[in-house]
Amino acid sequence: MQKGRTGAPDCNIYLIGFMGSGKSTIARCFAREYGMTLVEMDQRIEEEEGRTISRIFAESGEEYFRELETKLLARLGEKKGQVISCGGGAAMREKNVEEMRRGGKIVFLRTRPETIYERVKNSHNRPLLEGNMNVEYIRQLMEKRRPKYEAAAQITVDTDEKSISGICGEILRLL
Ligand code: S3P
Repeated sequence: MQKGRTGAPDCNIYLIGFMGSGKSTIARCFAREYGMTLVEMDQRIEEEEGRTISRIFAESGEEYFRELETKLLARLGEKKGQVISCGGGAAMREKNVEEMRRGGKIVFLRTRPETIYERVKNSHNRPLLEGNMNVEYIRQLMEKRRPKYEAAAQITVDTDEKSISGICGEILRLL
């Protein structure tokens, strides 16, 4: 892949993976190190809707939220040089994956359910895990989603027990 003057990729990087797999952290690292524009999909949707993800799910339902994700991905595809931290469910729609492929490279951050649980256990901003906060539930949902994450990704990186800068470096080498 072509790299820019700073070593940054000249297309978009889409980080996909389960909730708590480190997409936001790795995206921030990329943005800082390689001068890419950081896009946090959940945050962008919250700003545009003027309400939290939890409220969107509660008031308008999951399908409404999924439509917002699809529309946002289509808009993001019009620009380059962005590192995009995708919501954990964004790669479940084929249409979204096609959009990501058109816009750049898709990187799957693969993480064990136990690690995910440790990272998300005290958070309350993920409606799908509210009332389901345990390793078994996380494992089941992850197994259900895994084929789609793996089929979508051009690059897969195992993140357990690795440093943030190590993961960023690994992704850049693989791009
Ligand atoms: C979701 C993941 C969340 C957020 C929403 C749904 C999912 O994003 O988009 O709660 O379906 O996995 P993060 O992966 O950034 O937590």
